[in-house]
Amino acid sequence: MRTSANPAPESVLVVDDEPSLRAIMSFIVQRTGAIPVQAPDATTARQLAAKHTFACALIDKNLPGENGLDFLKWLRSVQPGCNALIVTAYGNVDSAVEALRLGAFDYLLKPFEVDALAHRIKLALEQYRMRQERERMQAMLIQADRLASLGLLAAGVVHEVNTPLAYILSNLDWLDEELPSLRKGLERQGTEQRAIAERLEAVESTLRDIREGAERVRHIARDVRAFARDPGDASMLVDLREVLEAALKMALVHIRYRARVVRDYQEVPMVMANEPRLAQVFLNLVVNAAQAIPEDGAEHEIRVRLWTGPNGEACAEVGDTGLGIPPENMANLFEPFFTTKSEGEGTGLGLFICKSILESFGGTITAESRPGEGTTFRLTMPPHASASRAASPLEPVSAAAAS
Ligand SMILES: Nc1ncnc2c1ncn2[C@@H]1O[C@H](COP(=O)(O)OP(=O)(O)O)[C@@H](O)[C@H]1O
Ligand SMILES: [Mg+2]
Repeated sequence: MRTSANPAPESVLVVDDEPSLRAIMSFIVQRTGAIPVQAPDATTARQLAAKHTFACALIDKNLPGENGLDFLKWLRSVQPGCNALIVTAYGNVDSAVEALRLGAFDYLLKPFEVDALAHRIKLALEQYRMRQERERMQAMLIQADRLASLGLLAAGVVHEVNTPLAYILSNLDWLDEELPSLRKGLERQGTEQRAIAERLEAVESTLRDIREGAERVRHIARDVRAFARDPGDASMLVDLREVLEAALKMALVHIRYRARVVRDYQEVPMVMANEPRLAQVFLNLVVNAAQAIPEDGAEHEIRVRLWTGPNGEACAEVGDTGLGIPPENMANLFEPFFTTKSEGEGTGLGLFICKSILESFGGTITAESRPGEGTTFRLTMPPHASASRAASPLEPVSAAAAS
């Protein structure tokens, strides 16, 4: 039985119209421990690559029908992780250079030596495994950060739930006392009708309070569940304003007593991304901002901004009037495990994760800080073609007016 320490062998696509060469290359692939999958032409190879993932591909440059380099280009677009080796005849070095330009892992001149080919295949497979491993670690870190945020969130949720729960329970106590005496009054019908009607009114109003409390608990539970759900990897059209608002709502307990939120939402294009992952990005930034704000009694702000950049890109900022970041720390901010916080408060993964997530959607993140004055994180993301979200006239530049 295979375990993760001994993973399944990778498949290697062997594309060559010459049956004997195909057989030799397949034999060499087998010797490296991988599984060869043969195709005599690009059409067959395309069909195979549409169904299976290949760690590596050996592609003859001169294929009948579609040229090997055109196939390489297509393969790079559908399986960017596949390391392709182009096999080309002697005296055709130009096409080898062209192959490298198109993203080939390496090229090999025919006739090749068995050992040389075996060596190249091994390198290609090794590099593939290392990349897989790196992606796996990155996914694990993102998950770890999500769990850390979740823990933080859970503490906030307990705090939030306690208030409505307290009035649900005290109102229930009151109903426990009120209802039996109401029943007794009704049993003595007629005598105290008006008093009973008044008390019924009080009962109804209490029931409304209880409902309100229960609704609040339900909303809080729903918000947490939405965050706890595995976000998956699907991309969708995302409205940054909604994501930012969701993150602010999540972080409310951390912000409420420290700072006031100032919003400046201008027109910003929709972006193609995974919404829960982007929410994780903004949550990390907003929580960092709240944590940077000292409890010095001064009036502090967390400023969030959305706008369209000069090249049509979506731009966002999360800023604070907190402690700021010493210049010597600026270079390390986005490094994994860089933290100035105590254990339990910080993992040092937040900003690293923000950067990884943003970059996976073609975005960027930068920081600017003045010690003692505050810090601003600026994000950009490519706009989704043609979609743009107009700033709603109803959205006030909220608390800003109060400053
Ligand atoms: N808004 C901010 N203001 C001041 N320092 C910040 C801010 N955001 C991040 N930092 C600094 O960057 C470090 C790394 O942040 P992050 O990656 O989110 O990890 P963590 O918050 O777990 O420490 C923090 O420990 C802190 O020193
Ligand atoms: Mg953090």
